[in-house]
Amino acid sequence: MEYLKIMDELSFSRIIQGFWRLVQWDWDAKKLEEFMQGCIQRGVTTFDTAEIYGFGECETQLGRVFARNPSLRHKIQLVSKTGIFNHDGFKYYDTSYERIKTSCKESLQRLSCDYLDLYLIHREDPCFDPRETARAMLELKKEGLVKEIGVSNFDPYKFQALNEFAGNQLCTNQIEWNPCCYEHIQSGMIDLLTQKEIHPMVWSPLAGGKIFTSQEAPYVRVREKLAEIGQRHGVAAEVIAYAWILYHPVKAMPIVGSRKLSRLDNAIKALDVKLQRWEWYEIYTASTGERLR
Ligand SMILES: NC(=O)c1ccc[n+]([C@@H]2O[C@H](COP(=O)([O-])OP(=O)(O)OC[C@H]3O[C@@H](n4cnc5c(N)ncnc54)[C@H](OP(=O)(O)O)[C@@H]3O)[C@@H](O)[C@H]2O)c1
Repeated sequence: MEYLKIMDELSFSRIIQGFWRLVQWDWDAKKLEEFMQGCIQRGVTTFDTAEIYGFGECETQLGRVFARNPSLRHKIQLVSKTGIFNHDGFKYYDTSYERIKTSCKESLQRLSCDYLDLYLIHREDPCFDPRETARAMLELKKEGLVKEIGVSNFDPYKFQALNEFAGNQLCTNQIEWNPCCYEHIQSGMIDLLTQKEIHPMVWSPLAGGKIFTSQEAPYVRVREKLAEIGQRHGVAAEVIAYAWILYHPVKAMPIVGSRKLSRLDNAIKALDVKLQRWEWYEIYTASTGERLR
């Protein structure tokens, strides 16, 4: 496994395991602990969750494992997020000072932990006040409840605004990126992160599985191209999808969302695949249908 320094005192495994779908997996604490041990044995030591996943249930289930086996906590880097809430089934965002401070303590309680390695603002909040949000995040750091701070799904303007008030301490932006999703390439976010040498965490690297299941034309074209390039390299199509993300100089960290360790192995295998630049573009143009000038 490769590890990336994301701040002076914090390194993440280049491949991260995500737990968004954990509640659907319907596992007991023993099965979840075995899965987490399987990740750690493979060197995948960074785990991603959020307070909104299963409305707190995902953190609660992870917390049961840390309570059963406290030694596990020190073998991993734990990431959680705040900012998305429900009011009687109605979804809204809240990045206010009070909400962030309260949410972090609630997450730690559910997770049976004393601290988070990284705490993220989950989504852009149109009512976002970067001064207030930065004040809350920096206080959490000072109190030792979180080691580092960052954001998720931010555009370059909101990222810069918060980073300025946070004393340039944002250490990642967790973004959606895969061969069928170009929002953050088009916005310039990936260029900004490359310039600042900040490594993004990448969610839905396989478009939530759609790259292998959807019948929509871009997904079908990408699927066929990944299989063709995979044959060239002697690996599965999935491995090439991860290699395509890892190729970029921003040094992204894909978050695997599967419940199967065999699929996590495909992501790890991608660290050894060296795509040619023209192969990267074969996948890019298969997705966009573009003929480059
Ligand atoms: N910050 C954010 O806003 C945000 C949003 C979404 C997610 N996330 C984070 O990112 C993580 C990953 O996201 P994700 O779960 O969408 O990632 P993903 O890895 O793109 O998708 C995982 C899904 O794809 C399925 N899958 C994988 N390989 C497949 C294949 N070859 N054929 C068919 N299905 C396949 C998996 O099923 P199996 O389990 O059966 O393998 C699983 O349901 C989440 O766990 C969460 O931590 C963050």
